[in-house]
Amino acid sequence: MTEGYGAISRRDVLKTSATGAAIAGSLGPGNIAVAQGQADAPPQATVSLKINGKPTRLTLDTRTTLLDALREHVRLTGTKKGCDHGQCGACTVIVNGRRINSCLTLAVMHEGDEVTTIEGLGGPDNLHPMQAAFVEHDGYQCGYCTPGQICSAIAVLDEIRAGIPSHVTEDVSKAPAMTTLEMRERMSGNICRCGAYSNIAEAMAQVAGQKSKGDKA
Ligand code: FES
Ligand code: FES
Repeated sequence: MTEGYGAISRRDVLKTSATGAAIAGSLGPGNIAVAQGQADAPPQATVSLKINGKPTRLTLDTRTTLLDALREHVRLTGTKKGCDHGQCGACTVIVNGRRINSCLTLAVMHEGDEVTTIEGLGGPDNLHPMQAAFVEHDGYQCGYCTPGQICSAIAVLDEIRAGIPSHVTEDVSKAPAMTTLEMRERMSGNICRCGAYSNIAEAMAQVAGQKSKGDKA
């Protein structure tokens, strides 16, 4: 959470500075470089998350993105790094029920949050309905964008059901309809270099409980 991040960050920055100053004061001239190095060490912070239902406590450089925390610290490599600056959607995960680009947010901003990655949706023996629909409709080729596409697709259907309008919603005073146009618009932040868009739309339409209108990418 933002509040937790602010409190932890400021405290740890102050603690790091105070520790560095104390060490520098207690060391002789020959150790000044070491003391300086410690004073310049990047501030660390501890954050508690619930990742795929599992309470997880991490101590991280405060600059670590949620994407890198998941991949490099928790070893959940299903979430992919594409552009690393918010343009491809490969890193999409679901946080507290909303999809986000995990490359654009710091892990320490998510104290107490519930994070769902592709690994938490289902496995080979118990696929999530969206995963099963992607398989059935060939919603991927190389598969690199697929974890982000699936996380996004699940959250998109929830957004439409929740009545959240999009850029193509004709009357924002009414709940948006579960149309292919609405789904495609909301998935436009998830890029697929293999061009599996039509098959992804078919998979989403199946899960949404409607027939796809069959328009092509
Ligand atoms: Fe996050 Fe591309 S890796 S949007
Ligand atoms: Fe290859 Fe989407 S399946 S990038």
